[in-house]
Amino acid sequence: MEINGKTSVCGLIGNPVEHTLSPMIHNTLAKRLGHDLVYVPFPVAQGRVPDAVAGADALHLLGLNVTVPYKSEVIGSLKAIDALAERIGAVNTLVRTEGGYKGYNTDMEGLYRAMTVEGIRISGEQIILLGAGGAARAVAYLCAVKGAEKVYMLNRTPGKAEQAAEEVNRSVGRQVIFPMATEDHATLPEGKYLAIQGTSVGLAPHTEDVVIPDRAFYEKIHTGFDLIYSPWETKFMKLVKEQGGKAYNGLKMLLYQGIIAYELWNDVQVSEEDAQVVYTKLKEHFAN
Ligand code: ATR
Repeated sequence: MEINGKTSVCGLIGNPVEHTLSPMIHNTLAKRLGHDLVYVPFPVAQGRVPDAVAGADALHLLGLNVTVPYKSEVIGSLKAIDALAERIGAVNTLVRTEGGYKGYNTDMEGLYRAMTVEGIRISGEQIILLGAGGAARAVAYLCAVKGAEKVYMLNRTPGKAEQAAEEVNRSVGRQVIFPMATEDHATLPEGKYLAIQGTSVGLAPHTEDVVIPDRAFYEKIHTGFDLIYSPWETKFMKLVKEQGGKAYNGLKMLLYQGIIAYELWNDVQVSEEDAQVVYTKLKEHFAN
């Protein structure tokens, strides 16, 4: 595209930012949809988040994404925050408004949209959630808010799962998250579950690692969703498939968190056809 006097700028703040795939998502969308917009990465040093957000506002940046390690810290620099993002305590998208930025969490809406597109339901489901860190806690909120019947939150350190469960249950006003120690997984009630892998275990280069190696566990799973997308197929996904379940990686979550941010910035609906074009491009990146 040709940059001109009216070109809008969006970008990503984080540290580090050089391996991000977000420019690919947003610049592909802008080109396809004919929007006069560019998306660039902005490395922000520790302690400079308030300066970065104030500077972005002064420079009229249309929107920002926020990545590690600033998703919680950035909340202090916002004018307003969306209800789900506030509950989760993490913001990954800033949208320009009169007088400052409003924060959203499109990571979780992105996960929800990715699941919806794949035909995976949360409402009324029995869910196993692996992990109790920042990402898993956000997934627990999403499941609770979207009407899951029961979520068993399994973590190596059970105290963290207990704390997360209490917080989420209190926030949504019902008992929906049930904390457990991962090592007690064999005591999970019989049934067929959707399992969401929300730990960092299995991430490249440790591709043979998995939170629960016991094959019997996977007999209880009809669908496994790993938030990891590198490697393309994690050990967790392989084990789910070996026991006859369906398995998905986190690339569509990445795709849709970007698409939802793009929709918020530009006040448009991105079609599934356009989403698919971006997805193909992201996939090709992994093939190379
Ligand atoms: P993130 O923000 O990506 O969620 P995090 O907050 O550091 O990262 O959380 C990491 C999650 O992965 C936690 O649930 C952690 O378990 P603990 O709470 O017991 O530390 C889990 N995790 C990391 N390494 C693990 C391992 N080797 N075995 C089991 N769980 C592990």
